[in-house]
Amino acid sequence: MKALVCHAFGPWDDLRLEETAAPGPLAADEVRIAAEYASVSFAAGLMVEGRYQRRPPLPFVPGTECIGIVTEVGPAVTRVKPGQRAAATLDWGGYAQQVVVAEYTVYPMPDGIDPRAAMHLPLSYGTAYGALAWSARLMVGETLLVTGAAGGVGIAAVQVGKALGARVIAVASTEEKRAFALSQGADIALPTDGFRDEVKKLTGGCGVDVVFDPVGGPVFDACLRACAQYGRMVIIGFAQGQIQQVPANLLLVKNIALHGFYFGAHAGWGLVDERAERAPKVQAMMDELFAWTAAGRLEPHVSHAYPMDRYREAMAALQARESLGKVVLEIGR
Ligand SMILES: NC(=O)c1ccc[n+]([C@@H]2O[C@H](COP(=O)([O-])OP(=O)(O)OC[C@H]3O[C@@H](n4cnc5c(N)ncnc54)[C@H](OP(=O)(O)O)[C@@H]3O)[C@@H](O)[C@H]2O)c1
Repeated sequence: MKALVCHAFGPWDDLRLEETAAPGPLAADEVRIAAEYASVSFAAGLMVEGRYQRRPPLPFVPGTECIGIVTEVGPAVTRVKPGQRAAATLDWGGYAQQVVVAEYTVYPMPDGIDPRAAMHLPLSYGTAYGALAWSARLMVGETLLVTGAAGGVGIAAVQVGKALGARVIAVASTEEKRAFALSQGADIALPTDGFRDEVKKLTGGCGVDVVFDPVGGPVFDACLRACAQYGRMVIIGFAQGQIQQVPANLLLVKNIALHGFYFGAHAGWGLVDERAERAPKVQAMMDELFAWTAAGRLEPHVSHAYPMDRYREAMAALQARESLGKVVLEIGR
């Protein structure tokens, strides 16, 4: 089979597209998927550079989520069967024509959902839903501020925030991105420069109830200052490259709760002992996200798709901040 292989931690462009042996026989609880699409993400790039939370043994195939057709299941598998289309989240291994994963991270997809667009769903919408519903406990009628709002997790948070009944303020760097966020349901879209003062004006001087911040650095600082008394902020990532220091005095005087949210832990990556406890919750969430998509309440969006041999262009599009929604690799091509 064809796979993108990392032989040494370093630049993404050093990955090699190779013919490799397909994964061997399945364990009892494993599922084999003929991959159609895989997503390109910051996390995959960091893992290839050796800068992610976990460093796989070399050589390895990166890629943390895929969608494809189930071709074989182990004898203990009950939730999916051959012939079904399913999404999977995985530690690594997604950039390959055959992917073998434990059943607990496989999410069967209903008919009627475009599989290419759905490649935006598992990690981005899973993160948005978990951060907003489980960590921040976003309530109907509250105001939600989303930074990087046209990006992969940002636009997911805009849509999930609306689906949960919030008023959503989107922050994005360009006119095109703000127009995209508005077209996807945001109530208001603000430029990144100076958004704190605008947010204060829009909320009668109070600030927002919940912040979803995948950008970090100085943007996080502005979010903190735009947060209301008793607000909840969720740290999602550091897309601008700098990990901020938190002025704890502001948390204190404004009674703000600060949460970190890491989807991988909920999905069970590297936490085998906890998977039995958490997997049903994540599976139920994915069922709901697929159902909302089939009903038109969510519109996952892929702005850039490349065949596997153009993986360098795919990462370049992400890093150049060109993408709206998700960037995907077409593994089947
Ligand atoms: N915690 C979790 O479980 C989890 C899950 C998924 C992703 N993440 C993290 O969330 C972050 C965003 O991921 P994503 O998939 O949404 O990425 P993305 O699609 O590239 O979006 C990131 C957004 O960040 C903004 N940005 C600001 N400075 C940037 C820079 N120097 N380079 C690139 N983007 C920059 C851009 O928006 P503007 O141009 O509007 O500023 C961009 O649209 C990453 O750090 C990722 O690792 C975390």
